[in-house]
Amino acid sequence: MKTRDITLHINEEKYNLTVDANQTLLQVLRSIGSTGTKYGCGTGECGACTVLVNGKTSILACLTLAALADGMHITTIMGLEKDGELHPVQQAFIDRHAIQCGFCTPGMVMKTISILEENPNPTEDQIRHELEGNMCRCTGYEKIVDAVQHARDMMKGETR
Ligand code: FES
Ligand code: FES
Repeated sequence: MKTRDITLHINEEKYNLTVDANQTLLQVLRSIGSTGTKYGCGTGECGACTVLVNGKTSILACLTLAALADGMHITTIMGLEKDGELHPVQQAFIDRHAIQCGFCTPGMVMKTISILEENPNPTEDQIRHELEGNMCRCTGYEKIVDAVQHARDMMKGETR
């Protein structure tokens, strides 16, 4: 198996790693203990492995080769809390009871951040459309959509 030396910046920490050419970013994240990012389907269908590039663009870590992520700045769910404070999107999911088993939650939260980075004022329909790639087996989505709207409003300085 061919290997490659890469550098990843994960949650503002630098990692020099040797990875197999076919290793995914998800496998690498989990192998270094970043297990907040979940392995769901492994085939790009469920969104559980969603992480951010450069703090704003969501990607599926199970479909991203680690070698191709060389040099990237990756944010995972484990990098959101700052000085003991949750990210507003994390807080919104708690406030609106949008978490049941929690398996989809890391991916949902990271996807929500990217949605709000791209459009700080999405409508409910736009939120539902953007979340189509993120599966949840538990909540029926209503509370998740409500949480995203709550996060949107909190981040704009309004609360519903
Ligand atoms: S684990 Fe990546 S999309 Fe399901
Ligand atoms: S809370 Fe269980 S899969 Fe979404």
